Amino acid sequence: MSNHGTSGGNNSFNSNINNSGYEKRGTGKLIRNGIIVTAVDTYKADIRVDGGIIVEIGLRLEDQGAEIIDASGCYVFPGGIDPHTHLDMPFGGTVTCDDFASGTKAAAFGGTTTIIDFCLTNKGEPLQKAVARWHDKALGKAVIDYGFHLMVSELNAEVLEELPVIMEKEGITSFKVFMAYKHTLQADDGTLYQTLKVARKHGALVMVHAENGDVIDILVSEALSAGKTEPIYHALTRPPELEGEATGRAAYLTELADSQLYVVHVTCAEAAWKIQEARKKGLRVYGETCPQYLLLEQSALEKPNFEGAKYVWSPPLREAWNQDVLWSALASGDLQTIGSDQCSFHFKGQKELGRGDFSKIPNGGPMIEDRFSLLYSEGVRKGRITLNQFVNMISTASARLFGLFPRKGTIAVGSDADLVIFDPNQERTLSAQTHHMKVDYSAFEGMKVTGEPVSVLVRGEFVIRDKQFVGTPGYGAYLRRDSFRIAEQVRVPERIPTEEGII
Ligand code: URP
Ligand code: ZN
Ligand code: ZN
Repeated sequence: MSNHGTSGGNNSFNSNINNSGYEKRGTGKLIRNGIIVTAVDTYKADIRVDGGIIVEIGLRLEDQGAEIIDASGCYVFPGGIDPHTHLDMPFGGTVTCDDFASGTKAAAFGGTTTIIDFCLTNKGEPLQKAVARWHDKALGKAVIDYGFHLMVSELNAEVLEELPVIMEKEGITSFKVFMAYKHTLQADDGTLYQTLKVARKHGALVMVHAENGDVIDILVSEALSAGKTEPIYHALTRPPELEGEATGRAAYLTELADSQLYVVHVTCAEAAWKIQEARKKGLRVYGETCPQYLLLEQSALEKPNFEGAKYVWSPPLREAWNQDVLWSALASGDLQTIGSDQCSFHFKGQKELGRGDFSKIPNGGPMIEDRFSLLYSEGVRKGRITLNQFVNMISTASARLFGLFPRKGTIAVGSDADLVIFDPNQERTLSAQTHHMKVDYSAFEGMKVTGEPVSVLVRGEFVIRDKQFVGTPGYGAYLRRDSFRIAEQVRVPERIPTEEGII
């Protein structure tokens, strides 16, 4: 068993609240005059925070000796939940340059108060050892709360035995299967199917990187043999058909296993349509997309002087028309979440490993800091999604799917006081000169956005105060998460039965 410290504990919603009020632990904080926005409501009220949780929400609350925080002119959002990060992760012969220290600090600047990072496993190694390694990466470094997804690459008798034990001991309730990255991370269809069955039995959510790795491997070899070595061939050897095919295959296997599936980083119409089709059938199939797929396009890989390498993600950026399909799928609810897929490599010395051979460019990019603001600026301000949909995508939906709701993902009495005081009118320019990630470039260099987190609290403590970092490495707590089964049960029914009938 790993010796990780401050556990978030199992979801202890309402643990110190009773009907007559709350157990006062100190003088607390009172956030006044802000506009509270949740996935369902937008209203003006004050929020009292004490003992790390929200203890009271109401109009004109008395100060009772609390520290007053004036949020006039600002929205107060639940802290962002980023369901997809890779911090301090070995990949492509190198290691991501942002770790749990720089990555979580940058996340906090960007309005994210919880991340769920991917714990990689090695074939033949006990899963618990991999989890312990991931705890060590985060311990003493994280400034915001964090949980782990667990990669499954093989399903032999040992793994089968260990998975439920890990779920119970560690509160890890989501498994990741890679359908791509042949020769390294890729698992076969049998492993995916068996993982779906185990997840069904024990209440976990299976996440897939959906691309057909076998065919990509052939296309990459063919391109390199033909002397096609530039970054653009990364995109051209991973066509959308192979993402759509893998997404459809995973959905069918999910149906067969009567299980649940979450497709990470959906990039294109072919994949979004497969998810839509599955959901129309009533399957428990969910999808995530990322800011890069909503806002950047394939032609970025053609930038001169090898700059195209900065835009190498897998799956790759697509032709621009796909962006409308993704925005529509978000607005209709067929895609539920926005992940950053934070996986940063310096341009100098890391992305450059692929000069002369695009297949050696480490895949991934920096996004943990800008996820929240990009979605607000490009989504809400441009009328593509509503303010409440924004909160759902950036926070609430991930809390529900990954067993953190209602402790995280909303603003409610009893929830953790993870709050973002956000100035919706602040204009600024994104740049590597001003971001807080270690990585030496920004994929959105020079882009103007409107809206900025001013102050960010995690469990009632400021991590960002008036745009200054005031957090403490190691403050971030490890989060044990509820099973998918329980998360499903707490979902609010769309129509509520009462004695008078259905309302
Ligand atoms: O290019 C990407 N997406 N890198 C991170 C690893 C993954 O596939 O999510
Ligand atoms: Zn992936
Ligand atoms: Zn990823």
